[in-house]
Amino acid sequence: MARRKKVYEGKAKILYEGPEPGTLVQYFKDDATAFNAEKKATIEGKGVLNNRLSEFFMTGLNNIGVPTHFIRRINMREQLIRAVEIIPLEVIVRNFAAGSMAKRLGLEEGTQLPRPIIEFSYKNDDLGDPLVPEEYIIAFGWASQQDLDDIVALALRVNDFMSGMMMGVGIRLVDFKIEIGRVWDGDFMRLIVADEISPDSCRLWDIETGQKLDKDVFRRDLGNLTDAYTEVARRLGVMPANSGFGGKPTLVN
Ligand code: TMP
Repeated sequence: MARRKKVYEGKAKILYEGPEPGTLVQYFKDDATAFNAEKKATIEGKGVLNNRLSEFFMTGLNNIGVPTHFIRRINMREQLIRAVEIIPLEVIVRNFAAGSMAKRLGLEEGTQLPRPIIEFSYKNDDLGDPLVPEEYIIAFGWASQQDLDDIVALALRVNDFMSGMMMGVGIRLVDFKIEIGRVWDGDFMRLIVADEISPDSCRLWDIETGQKLDKDVFRRDLGNLTDAYTEVARRLGVMPANSGFGGKPTLVN
């Protein structure tokens, strides 16, 4: 059998050519990196959890009319997605101060922000994804003012959906990162949510205890990352507690 063609390999995922034009297969690896890949590990089961969780969030977004690249899950580690042209920005939405914002402004982590704050980083590993103002984005042609207005509207809808979803299971959505892609329907260009939405790209804190249930567990050596992601999945009903998960990943369809 012919091997399928690898289109791109990133730190946590691989993209392969899809079965039809305009589609790709997104494979979730178990690799975890932090601090621009200065810190690396392989965490058994992470890819399976993120595949399932990203499916869950993107399906929910599609269902409320927020367009995403997600088409369907193929197996434990792979999903079929629409091919997009990725805008080279990390779109970060913050509800509470944490991470780089807390550090930059000298705020205590967990301080509630007056309103959701959106910021943009230029997606470039060699430069360490620097924070960029809107003026750079427009001047360098990464996105137009109209694109940015649309991206902000999408990001706020994702924030409301994700915050509500998490609140329902006792988790605070502190902040998250999304990526946006362009797709064309003939001459008409649309912006859709791409990449992944998972505990790798969000900060998720238990509302009662403040326990971290996201990639900070790995970044800051706070315990077992798979246990934290499994807890998020369990609360959302994505992977039942009795699915045998915790040892070798097994999936319940
Ligand atoms: P930060 O506080 O480190 O800037 O991170 C803000 C949010 O973005 C947080 O939810 C983690 C997420 N994030 C990524 O998804 N990828 C990255 O490379 C970084 C630095 C942060």
